[in-house]
Amino acid sequence: MAEPTFRAPKGTRDILAPDSTRLRALVDEFARLAGHSGFGEVVSPIFEDLGVFKRLGESTDVVSKEMFDFCDKGDPPQRLALRPELTAGICRAYAEHRPVPPWKVWYEGPQFRYEQPQAGRYRQFTQVGVEVLGTDDPQADVDVIVLGARFFESLGLGRIELALNSLGSPGDSGSRRAYEQALVEYLAQNRSLLSTQSQVTVERNPLRVLDSKREQDAAVIAGAPVMVDFLDDESAAHFAAVRAGLDAVGVAYEISPRLVRGLDYYTRTTFEFAAPALAGAQNAVGGGGRYDGLVEDLGGPPTPGIGFALGVDRILLACDAEGVFAAPADGVDVFVVDVTGGTAALMVCDRLRRAGMAVDRSYGGRSMKAQMKVADRSGASFAVIIGDDELAAGVLTLRDMVDGSQYRVEAPRLVGELIRKRRR
Ligand code: HAM
Repeated sequence: MAEPTFRAPKGTRDILAPDSTRLRALVDEFARLAGHSGFGEVVSPIFEDLGVFKRLGESTDVVSKEMFDFCDKGDPPQRLALRPELTAGICRAYAEHRPVPPWKVWYEGPQFRYEQPQAGRYRQFTQVGVEVLGTDDPQADVDVIVLGARFFESLGLGRIELALNSLGSPGDSGSRRAYEQALVEYLAQNRSLLSTQSQVTVERNPLRVLDSKREQDAAVIAGAPVMVDFLDDESAAHFAAVRAGLDAVGVAYEISPRLVRGLDYYTRTTFEFAAPALAGAQNAVGGGGRYDGLVEDLGGPPTPGIGFALGVDRILLACDAEGVFAAPADGVDVFVVDVTGGTAALMVCDRLRRAGMAVDRSYGGRSMKAQMKVADRSGASFAVIIGDDELAAGVLTLRDMVDGSQYRVEAPRLVGELIRKRRR
């Protein structure tokens, strides 16, 4: 095959059937479960004012290195960015529309991050997720986490691990401040043992050092103070209630005191779902947590929030690794073969489709043999054959593609006959 003139941009992919059918089925399953838990879908813009995403944290990689930002053609131009995630956009929408809390939404769609592409890491990837805005009830945290866990189960994934942590509450009186002070002191004492990159990170965002996967940092991280030891009474009670709720419904988790997420808005509950079957750095198939200050940060009223996003592309890789969630059968019920010019096929296809059947045909006036080959490949259970004899007699030949038997049917009886045969 000749080299194509253009290829999909680096880090993006064309997802063709049957993979696209499988992706759609996965999103549909998520929509079903989210709908059953009282979430309504929100469809928000793929790009937002860059300022919306700055709230994810100036020192995060997502904001400092990975943003697809651009100026529009306005005068003066507006600085926009393709969304790297949806939580900030949902909070912007909440501040804009002020829906009645608790506002429970689910979403799906492409996100964009300028990352170094590799298996399971793309520049355009799909997330599904939920957010609950307007309650700090720990049972909302539990409901959200359980929805994620049950979704993985419903796909047939049996080896998803849930890591849970609490980051406490930020602010002067919050437990985060005391912890960050202890962490900074500890990291300063051990600075010379850290990698050069982490020495820089200490200055910008000490918590993020805990996220380092570099071998040189491992020993320092292992000895670092942990947030859960610093939780104030309220945050500790909140965390205990989340754990008790997960225990009550029997969702297994592991407390992971060094779990820090890649975005800066988190408070209290944070969690990550990992698929051990996937390669180390790309094994996070989803994550989320509380972000009780984000709506206010975006100009809205003080509003607590909790949610998660799951990486659809990675979940499908995990399904491959576990051999579950095959692509649903694609294809049509009936294939119409017409060697009389094609107008009869147009009419028969339209009639059958309006009766609710999935129907295909071929184009270009090809021979009976060629059309029958395509009918075979289509996976259709029945072929409707229209030749000159049939046309003259006002009949159609109905062929059972499985056992090869065929007989003639009067044209007006075709729909009823097919309905009867498909029921068998
Ligand atoms: P996140 O951890 O940045 O969280 O992304 C969630 C999931 O999206 C990841 O666990 C991963 O499966 C997938 N993902 C992230 N980046 C890529 C990539 N480059 N290629 C493929 N998959 C990727 C968030 O986005 C938060 N908004 C989650 C949240 C919702 N927190 C609260 N509410």
